[in-house]
Amino acid sequence: MKSKELRKLFLDFFEKRGHKIVKPTSLVSEGDKTVLFNVAGMQQFKPYYTREKDPIKDNHIGLNEPLGSQKIANIQPCIRTIDIDEVGDKSHLTVFEMLGNFAFNKSYFKEEAINLAYDFIQEGLKLNMDDIYVTVYKGDDDVLMDQESYDLWKKAGLKESQIGLGEKEDNFWGPVGNTGICGPCSEIYFKGIEIWTIVFNQYLKKEDGSLELLENVGVDGGAGFERQLMAVNFGSDFEGKSIYDTDVFFDQIQFLKEKSLNYIEKSARIVSDHFKASVFLIANGVLPANVDRGYVLRRLIRRIVRHLKQLEINDNIFEQMLVNLQNVCGDFYTEIMDSKTILDVINKEVNKFNLTLEKGLKELNLLFKEIADKKIDGCKAFYIYETFGFPIELIKEEAENRGFVVDEDGFNDEFEKHKEISRAGLEGKFGGHNLDSLNIETDSYKIRTRLHTATHLLLKALREVLGEDVFQKGSDINDERLRFDFTFGRKLTEEELLKIQKIVNEKIQEGLIVSFKEMKTEDALKMGYLGSFMSKYPEQVTTYDIGGWSKEICAGPHVNNTKEIGELKIIKEEASSQGIRRIKAVVK
Ligand code: ALA
Repeated sequence: MKSKELRKLFLDFFEKRGHKIVKPTSLVSEGDKTVLFNVAGMQQFKPYYTREKDPIKDNHIGLNEPLGSQKIANIQPCIRTIDIDEVGDKSHLTVFEMLGNFAFNKSYFKEEAINLAYDFIQEGLKLNMDDIYVTVYKGDDDVLMDQESYDLWKKAGLKESQIGLGEKEDNFWGPVGNTGICGPCSEIYFKGIEIWTIVFNQYLKKEDGSLELLENVGVDGGAGFERQLMAVNFGSDFEGKSIYDTDVFFDQIQFLKEKSLNYIEKSARIVSDHFKASVFLIANGVLPANVDRGYVLRRLIRRIVRHLKQLEINDNIFEQMLVNLQNVCGDFYTEIMDSKTILDVINKEVNKFNLTLEKGLKELNLLFKEIADKKIDGCKAFYIYETFGFPIELIKEEAENRGFVVDEDGFNDEFEKHKEISRAGLEGKFGGHNLDSLNIETDSYKIRTRLHTATHLLLKALREVLGEDVFQKGSDINDERLRFDFTFGRKLTEEELLKIQKIVNEKIQEGLIVSFKEMKTEDALKMGYLGSFMSKYPEQVTTYDIGGWSKEICAGPHVNNTKEIGELKIIKEEASSQGIRRIKAVVK
């Protein structure tokens, strides 16, 4: 089945069952200020679940008329940069289309939603129902187990062995942003790949983190379009197939294969995904920048350049890539047909990045002049790699062109050394992210380093404002934000949060020097260095001192001067568990 057919199949199916078909909204989430992008199809419909708006009477965002129906279906492009490290595997994308069905004001609830999904999978997709597995929410202190959904899946036709109970992380969805609509959900899997989530919107999450049960419940169904397409096409031979084998990506991948002198499947997948995401962003008005949406676009384009180099594609192939993309979805997403604007933005940004790379090349050339024995040692190669984001393959290539050799073992030793220095810190603070991918992705590494140093300032500021009983309880950093858990017994007031944020930003502005020292754990603790994961420390540890103001045991990595952090903005404060609070913050 082709992607066009699946779009039609889905929309026709839901239209026949009483749903009004609505156009997708802009990818950059107009009307929903809580997030940078549309991460889910339901975002344009949020006010209907909360009854702030009436779908029959009030004009819909972007339309000059009301939706005119309590049941809606649509196909919405979504961007989830959170999955960027997974792109290239079987089923993850940064930009994907979500097949959505929505019910407001009790127009239908669990039974109809479950039956609709069951019927679409069986009659529409024609998948073998024995290969389906679903999960329902197992419940917790606040929310009961979703027994009703469990029973309804059984009634619809699944065996008990096909229904599992899931944790909050998977089976309670929302809200998008800090507060708002949310509820337990059922996830539907086909041969281990999640192909649909049905959220039963029955709660409103409030500022204080509590959940208010809603009377006018609703449904928010979201299905991964590319995954369903993969399931339909390769259902009987799922092994070894991926979303890139569907027509959404097939021609693009073949084209990259033809153009490549050094074909690497994962790089081709990353290029085709990131290209699509970049085109969609540009078509929705985003321009490359160092902050917010523009920063996401910049990173995507830079990753494209890097992977094209790895593929050894030296021609400018963006025009043909755009045509390939337009051929598969330009009729549905007409905004991507403005080729000139899109190509201008991409080419400009690529040129800019190439200038950065050129700087690295200049540095390399200086090195070449200094070296008499035609050997580039590992330390120097690592310096170029780290400072200019110059991949080792490129360093090698440039060196070889001039008859030089690079001490690759030495480079790898440096790389490992650097990784080791970072490891404890990364594992503790970066929440188990893949270290290699961090090192390969320099932009990602840089932002995480800034966020990491910011967590030290945050802890110190928290202790100044809330008292010395505040200790770090955990931390997780990704490319978007830091998440910091700490001991404290109640919700922080708005005033306290502003004060904490102000202190951190003052310290950033002071340009404090970040220095580190190795010492015995015992001595570090005596000297007032704070630790957060005591039991795991070896005898000897690395300590970080930020301008004499913040002192922590930690293995880094950190910025050299707090000014490099930029500006910290706290975006959320909530309960993490009993006696533990959680702050999420971004840097700009
Ligand atoms: N809103 C739900 C999701 O994004 C369907 O998974």
